[in-house]
Amino acid sequence: MKLSTLLFGGIATLVGAQTATAYTDAKSGITFQAYQHTTGYFLGVALPEDPTGNTDFIVTIGGKGSGWSGASLAGPMKNALLVLAWPNNNSIVSSFRKTNQYGSPPVATGTFTQLPIANGTYTNTTHWTYTFVCSKCIQSDGTTFVANDNTTVLGYALSSTAPSQKGNAASSVSKHTSQGQATFDLVKARSRDFATWKTWAAAPKVANAL
Ligand code: HEM
Ligand SMILES: *[C@@H]1O[C@H](CO)[C@@H](O)[C@H](O)[C@H]1NC(C)=O
Ligand SMILES: *[C@@H]1O[C@H](CO)[C@@H](O)[C@H](O)[C@H]1NC(C)=O
Ligand SMILES: *[C@@H]1O[C@H](CO)[C@@H](O)[C@H](O)[C@H]1NC(C)=O
Ligand SMILES: *[C@@H]1O[C@H](CO)[C@@H](O)[C@H](O)[C@H]1NC(C)=O
Repeated sequence: MKLSTLLFGGIATLVGAQTATAYTDAKSGITFQAYQHTTGYFLGVALPEDPTGNTDFIVTIGGKGSGWSGASLAGPMKNALLVLAWPNNNSIVSSFRKTNQYGSPPVATGTFTQLPIANGTYTNTTHWTYTFVCSKCIQSDGTTFVANDNTTVLGYALSSTAPSQKGNAASSVSKHTSQGQATFDLVKARSRDFATWKTWAAAPKVANAL
């Protein structure tokens, strides 16, 4: 029995760690499926109850310290819609990025926008947190998951080093100090409260300093 416990523990460490679980942000009250990294990084998503034709979802992303946190809405770094955010003097700076090569990804432009949710966007004594409606973010060109996916893999990346121009949302960044992919149960990420949460968001921003 002891041997099988040890074996199971070893396997769980290898394949079980990169999975999102339920997480409620205390300040906004929004419930996400979220991946949490030992560094304090986290990435959560919330979706509407009916996925049919949906293009919008809510993202919460954050971390500890002064470095950046990023996400790939398709899983890989390359040819995916990326979200990149970092704290700057108690506010958050964020942008969409996209690249077809490994290197600091340039700002991406498109119909997608970020609409910040005020009480889900804050810095406390331990973490910074940015919560926004990702509007028109679900794309059909392979750069994101698709509306009727019941499960998906999202990419995460973080650096403990702050971008060179913290006040500029288009700043280049140095390479992540940790990166990988995590499985998200999108059925569990759906909520009948999504429509209400979505109304809490403010005006759209593409590359923004909040
Ligand atoms: C100078 C900046 C960057 C460089 C040089 C870089 C380079 C790389 C490389 C070489 C890999 C493959 C794994 C490895 O060898 O470590 C990778 C993976 C990854 N990167 Fe980046 N990256 C940069 C910035 C970013 C940013 C800003 C994001 C997100 C906003 C990001 C997201 C990811 C993700 C999710 C992976 C894991 C999935 C995959 O392997 O494609 N990267 N990166
Ligand atoms: C967050 O803000 C919204 C909109 O102002 C509000 O309705 C909601 O109750 C707030 N959440 C919490 C937990 O106070
Ligand atoms: C940081 O923010 C505070 C409060 O908003 C402000 O008083 C201060 O001048 C800012 N500092 C810098 C360096 O921008
Ligand atoms: C700060 O915010 C993070 C993210 O919401 C939360 O996990 C943490 O418990 C908060 N810390 C304190 C001291 O309130
Ligand atoms: C998700 O699950 C529903 C209900 O079981 C099913 O109709 C749908 O085809 C599934 N979506 C995908 C992409 O497999």
